[in-house]
Amino acid sequence: MTDLAYLVDVSPGTGTLPPRAWPPASDAARLSLDGTWRFRLTPHAGADTDFAADGYDATAWGELRVPGHWVLQGHGAPAYTNVVYPFPLDPPFVPTENPTGDHLHTFDLPQDWPAGGDTVLRFDGVESCARVWLNGTELGEFKGSRLPHEFTVGPLLRERANVLAVRVHQWSSGSYLEDQDQWWLPGIFRDVTLLHRPAGAVRDHFVHASYDHERGEGTLRVDSEPAGRVLVPELGIDIAAGESATVAVEPWSAEQPRLYEGELVTSGERVRLRVGFRTVRVEDGLIKANGRPLLFKGVNRHEFHPETGRTLDLETMRADVLLMKRHNINAVRTSHYPPHPAFLDLCDELGLWVIDECDLETHGFVHVEWRGNPVADPRWTPALLDRAERMVERDKNHPSVVIWSLGNECGTGEGLTAMAAWIRDRDPSRPIHYEGDPSCADTDFYSRMYADHAEVEQIGRGTEEPLEDAESDARRRRLPFLQCEYAHAMGTGPGGLVEYQELFEKYPRLQGGFVWEWIDHGLAHPEYGCAYGGDFGEELHDGNFVCDGLLFPDRTPSPGLLDYKTVIQPVRMDGDGREGLVRVRNLYDFADLSHLEFTWSYEKDGVTVREGVLDVPAVPAGGSVEVRLPAPPRRDPDAETQWTLRARLAKDTAWAERGHLVAWAQLPVAWGMIPPIPGGRAPVRDGSRITLGSGVFDARTGALLAVGEVPVHGFGLDVWRAPTDNDNGMSWVTGASVAASWRALGLHRVQHRVEAVESSPDGLTVRTRVAPAAVDVALRVTYHWISNGIRLALRMDVEPEGDWQVPLPRLGIRLGLPAVYDRATWFGAGPGEAYPDTGAAAMLGIWSASVPELQTPYVRPQENGARAEVRWLELTDGTRPLLVDGGHFSFTARPWSTQELDAAAHRTDLVAGDTVWLHLDARHHGIGSESCGPGVLPDHRLKVRSERFSVQFSARDSGTPRRPA
Ligand code: GAL
Repeated sequence: MTDLAYLVDVSPGTGTLPPRAWPPASDAARLSLDGTWRFRLTPHAGADTDFAADGYDATAWGELRVPGHWVLQGHGAPAYTNVVYPFPLDPPFVPTENPTGDHLHTFDLPQDWPAGGDTVLRFDGVESCARVWLNGTELGEFKGSRLPHEFTVGPLLRERANVLAVRVHQWSSGSYLEDQDQWWLPGIFRDVTLLHRPAGAVRDHFVHASYDHERGEGTLRVDSEPAGRVLVPELGIDIAAGESATVAVEPWSAEQPRLYEGELVTSGERVRLRVGFRTVRVEDGLIKANGRPLLFKGVNRHEFHPETGRTLDLETMRADVLLMKRHNINAVRTSHYPPHPAFLDLCDELGLWVIDECDLETHGFVHVEWRGNPVADPRWTPALLDRAERMVERDKNHPSVVIWSLGNECGTGEGLTAMAAWIRDRDPSRPIHYEGDPSCADTDFYSRMYADHAEVEQIGRGTEEPLEDAESDARRRRLPFLQCEYAHAMGTGPGGLVEYQELFEKYPRLQGGFVWEWIDHGLAHPEYGCAYGGDFGEELHDGNFVCDGLLFPDRTPSPGLLDYKTVIQPVRMDGDGREGLVRVRNLYDFADLSHLEFTWSYEKDGVTVREGVLDVPAVPAGGSVEVRLPAPPRRDPDAETQWTLRARLAKDTAWAERGHLVAWAQLPVAWGMIPPIPGGRAPVRDGSRITLGSGVFDARTGALLAVGEVPVHGFGLDVWRAPTDNDNGMSWVTGASVAASWRALGLHRVQHRVEAVESSPDGLTVRTRVAPAAVDVALRVTYHWISNGIRLALRMDVEPEGDWQVPLPRLGIRLGLPAVYDRATWFGAGPGEAYPDTGAAAMLGIWSASVPELQTPYVRPQENGARAEVRWLELTDGTRPLLVDGGHFSFTARPWSTQELDAAAHRTDLVAGDTVWLHLDARHHGIGSESCGPGVLPDHRLKVRSERFSVQFSARDSGTPRRPA
């Protein structure tokens, strides 16, 4: 047995070099040690360390890809918890059952590996704790999973058959500081590199590049150890390190990420510099860059890949940045640890404001009233400081990093204060963020997560609830506000984005927010396809709370991301379509509009009849202009007409090609007419059937059985939807979820009593009472049917009875069609889903999709895929279309029932049956973001009230025009 004291030692590791800037490209040799390593897993920490001895025979061991997590490579299993620690709260101790991965790698030095100098062995990330040997000599050990650690190894290296041995423990004292809401994924999950350090090589360097917006000048100073020269040829800069030069420059911003190439040259090394000049400051209660207040349109990004966990390759990191840029996102909080350093290079290059967050979270202590919280225990302060230093030193040269964040959800305590003090001293050029301390003692922002709209508005006005301590209160009132997390993107939704953005744009103090979160952490799984908490047999887990991103696990944008893109678009176009006047507002913080080209199109009943270019001048940031649209074509009084305006990139950029859509708007001109159909046909009874024009009904129940040749079953009012994650979210006000109140009332199993089926010369009237068991609330539902022979019109009147305390999930009708009805075309909002408080991305137009394509693949199945504002819908089997029109409705069409959707835990549980279930809804309850945040805003709740809903059906031969006559 070896000494395991280091495992629970709370001080930083031993043997590592002092932290320094991430080594940028340089002319010094480097050797990647990534690749296939030998691997052995033991279930406890104390196994013999003889494997580290020179000459150990590991041929019997398995293999492992490094970087990688062993639990994702067939050794052990991942586990997900949100707040709770999966081990007893007994700091700094960890369980004896401590999965330990021994890693061995044998390597030769390349033939041209330089002689002389020194060599550094670098680990960019190891979870949670590593002990390292090279050629039998122990180098030391370290903790701090998402931070770099280096050892000097020069004298130990030989030309051939070097043996690197690394023992990694899943649990260590460091795990107490890493209780982030994510999978527990041990392993050497970032690169391992050998870096040659020639004599005179740069040990560390600090690029200070500020911008004076009044003079249009940048000042550059590069501190270097050892001394050297700093060259930026494009700016004519050639100065000694430590000296400063002030020259006219173009500033760096997320919108215009201007970088200047340079070099730091010491006697031993030439290091690449990528200089972005910008000055970030909190002044007058606002965060400003280059003198202008910023509005963050941000996301929280965890590092995640469905197959490789937190091991990300460069393409994946680039994909993330490109996706963000293409969806109008301008900021990222690296929740909740410094990302792979290459990600920050991409942010510098492509332009994103970054809140770089330290690898620190102790959230699980909240369950014991924060007793023993390391952040409040001075014995842990050195470990906390070590983490702050490793982050700041590594990332200090990135212009994109504009804010340091101390960590996430670790209560309050002197450790945080010490971190903040150290950071301020080392890098006074960037403000500090931390959300978890209401007094904001150590921070430059008033930051919150999930504050609801009303509270955000209060904060915007400066009328928030005061703190007890008057001094802290006064201080906090002077701080700019950030929602470091909001709009919890779990499952369907988030709802309420538009309303948040209105507030952010209205009150200067509100400098924007960061949606929680970027990507669903669904792991690839042989049985479930995509796994969440509990799917690996974890004893403790938090289910699918780990799937709450704007991207699905495979990085397909969810409807939430498309909505967010629209809500935060940097150009707003509004006006009066009939007058033909458009106001174009530039919502960028820096850029004018010259990089965009604008177009208009004029649509009649969803079909473009004319289009052209809209001349928009180069309006400066924050400015606006009124532009006139061309005279519209002659109006057709029955047609619905509108303008669609689009702003696209006028040139290729580093993140999207010319023509990429940045912003759009639609301005209605005329609403069109829905001609009422004359009735005329009288019902005809024939045994158990009643025929009314093209409609066939069950004479006993009054249920619709066919429209023309299209058979229908399961017809009737439906109020149930498969609860969304947000429906299931616990309200902070009532302590219960709206879905629980629906189920308690029995809305998932209402019963229908037919009171009367009445024929008259004008049509058919079916009177019903719909109610859940055991209660006396009900909906009186009357279906009035008329037909002119071709078209069959339904008017449904709903009257509530009794004291309804809860909103309805939905209100509409449901009908089952043969499964061959699997193609939809509609004129309405699309192409994606929309609910009352989502769907900003949905445009009015004519859209088509197959029934499978209408399903939004949320990892945990739930209500999804409603298409809203539908004027007409055609569902077809290819030969006998069914047309629905006659009003604005919303529809879903699925190859499974709502009950099956509700019962499914994974998408693999959903199996297409022989019915397409078509829902035509008058209204839906909104979505909100109560899975972690506010519920549905009052305007979007489906209150029970008298309701009238009208639709018309007709069955037609294919080939007839789709648009209703
Ligand atoms: C926050 C936390 C995040 C995440 C989120 C809910 O409290 O900072 O890490 O857990 O809630 O998904």
